Amino acid sequence: MNREVARIITAHHQEEGGGFIVRRPLPTRGVDVIDPFLLIDELGPVTYQPGQAIGAPDHPHRGFETVSYILEGDLEHEDSAGHKGKLVSGDVQWMTAGAGIVHSEMPSRQLQESGGRVHGFQVWVNLPSRLKMTQPRYQEVSGAKIPTAQTPDGKARVRVIAGEALGAKAVIETHTPIVYQDWSLEPGADVTVDIGADHQVLAYVFDGAIQIEGRRVAEGQLAVLGAGNAVRLQGDSSPGRLLLLAGVPHREPVARYGPFVMNTEREIHDAIRDFQSGRMGEITRTAKVG
Ligand code: CO
Repeated sequence: MNREVARIITAHHQEEGGGFIVRRPLPTRGVDVIDPFLLIDELGPVTYQPGQAIGAPDHPHRGFETVSYILEGDLEHEDSAGHKGKLVSGDVQWMTAGAGIVHSEMPSRQLQESGGRVHGFQVWVNLPSRLKMTQPRYQEVSGAKIPTAQTPDGKARVRVIAGEALGAKAVIETHTPIVYQDWSLEPGADVTVDIGADHQVLAYVFDGAIQIEGRRVAEGQLAVLGAGNAVRLQGDSSPGRLLLLAGVPHREPVARYGPFVMNTEREIHDAIRDFQSGRMGEITRTAKVG
């Protein structure tokens, strides 16, 4: 049975971190969580002038996973577990914060100095209580290694970041079953993706428009899908592009405070204490400053 659109949420504009503008469909007024997803941020697209590009300097996370996907521009990552990397167009970083990590996400020096276009996503995936204090894990996959597939007519193309579509299987491992796919649909595209009936399914359109079971979903809209075991995506009158997200809900209480997402208020207090006392570590930088 194909899933129908149960609800459409229009993304709002939000200023984040050091002041960058994001388009955010989740959380939104009256909707804190769409289990197991906690946050969906579209960064830009924005063109920075020289000296204007900004990022998120050292900050902690505990209890969930942050997934960064860069479409344009770049992002340099550094964290307290010693990971360091630079993401460019097409690259994905799947970071399991677990018990706690301190990281920074900044545009490269070149992007800061010369300016340039930035477009990407950050999605927060919740962890079930049994995994909230798991050891931090870091998976960085270059765009060239993200599996891709297309329908025989070439009108529907997909980059499979998590899950499986058209026979292509993700290389990224997830702690719980998650689907994270970047679909491009031309007019006339018609593709059906099997997604288990136990999953919550979301489709966020970030370019043009698409159709789901006859309902049009346009740029900046998040479609929350109803029950079923498949999703039928069709092209609209012009090309469209979307993130298809799905996961099995944890059905657990969510206690949330900024960068910490736990099950109880008590655990949030513990997280704040552990961060303040340095138990989530700090980023050791060898480069001399000043
Ligand atoms: Co972060």
